Amino acid sequence: MSVAAVIPGSFDPITMGHVDIIERAASRFDQVTVAVLENPSKQPLFTIDERVELIEGTVAHLGNVSIARFRGLLVNFCNAHGIRLIVKGLRAVSDFEYELQMAQMNQRMGDVETLFLTTTPEFSYLSSSLIKEIARFGGPLEGFVPDAVQKALRGRLGDDLSP
Ligand code: PNS
Repeated sequence: MSVAAVIPGSFDPITMGHVDIIERAASRFDQVTVAVLENPSKQPLFTIDERVELIEGTVAHLGNVSIARFRGLLVNFCNAHGIRLIVKGLRAVSDFEYELQMAQMNQRMGDVETLFLTTTPEFSYLSSSLIKEIARFGGPLEGFVPDAVQKALRGRLGDDLSP
């Protein structure tokens, strides 16, 4: 039986923490879909097209990973694509409460199970919002995000450096 999994997120932008989870999921499941949330009520730093392009460039070496966009409920996306498994990274206890709630709700609403991979420790403190803050103030990004993302962040936030 072929097992398909979805890795959902905003990916604004993709970090090495995301890459780690995507690579590990790709080595365990037959097909992995990275589902990028298009949320009209949020103001992301990168447009949906930019986020997808940055992910594409980052996961091109993984033959069983594809990228999709979604709006609305994740369970609807899963059901429409015949996916019954969500994979997520768990960084710390602080992630747990909200993730547990969403996992239980997704199980209840759509019969979609959530599997948590514990984040590789060197990435456990990484988040897209922290990365954007570091970039905004000209801090180091090496090792935290893929090279293309570094470039995109510098290009987008380069003029915004504080003294
Ligand atoms: O990268 P993020 O922003 O932490 O990812 C959160 C995401 C996109 C996985 C989550 O907000 C989500 O699944 N949103 C879609 C709407 C939905 O299904 N909400 C959960 C209801 S239980």
